[in-house]
Amino acid sequence: MSHMIKKINHIALVVPDLEEGVGFWADALGMHLSQVEEVPSQEVRVGFFNVGESHLELVQPTTEDSGIAKYLEKRGPGIHHIALEVENLTRALAQLKEKNVPLINEEPVIAAGGNRAAFIHPKGTGGVLVELYEVASENGHANGH
Ligand code: CO
Repeated sequence: MSHMIKKINHIALVVPDLEEGVGFWADALGMHLSQVEEVPSQEVRVGFFNVGESHLELVQPTTEDSGIAKYLEKRGPGIHHIALEVENLTRALAQLKEKNVPLINEEPVIAAGGNRAAFIHPKGTGGVLVELYEVASENGHANGH
């Protein structure tokens, strides 16, 4: 099934505060946070560091009762999910449903930058929250922001 996966698009870290979360990455490693934006549909603010062809995403919950807010409260800051880039998210989801993989998002949702995303439930992946990610511009969709 690996033909459906193009690359690791990003690894996401959950932080209580985006500006403070930049700390180590900017101060010690000289990385620069870009593309900071609010994603109301997922109740988060996000920012991205460019790391070669991939990204490191910082995610700050903006409400207290979302899944990611509860994750942060329970586990503290750290790695939250791995995002695998796919060519065609609709097709990837159909394949996973066929294989009875438990999905958090049965249908694509709009993520940062107008990209399309869907999360796979960790109980189906061996404990890792996996986001499937389809980059908008590469599939002719309008860039939402
Ligand atoms: Co993500």
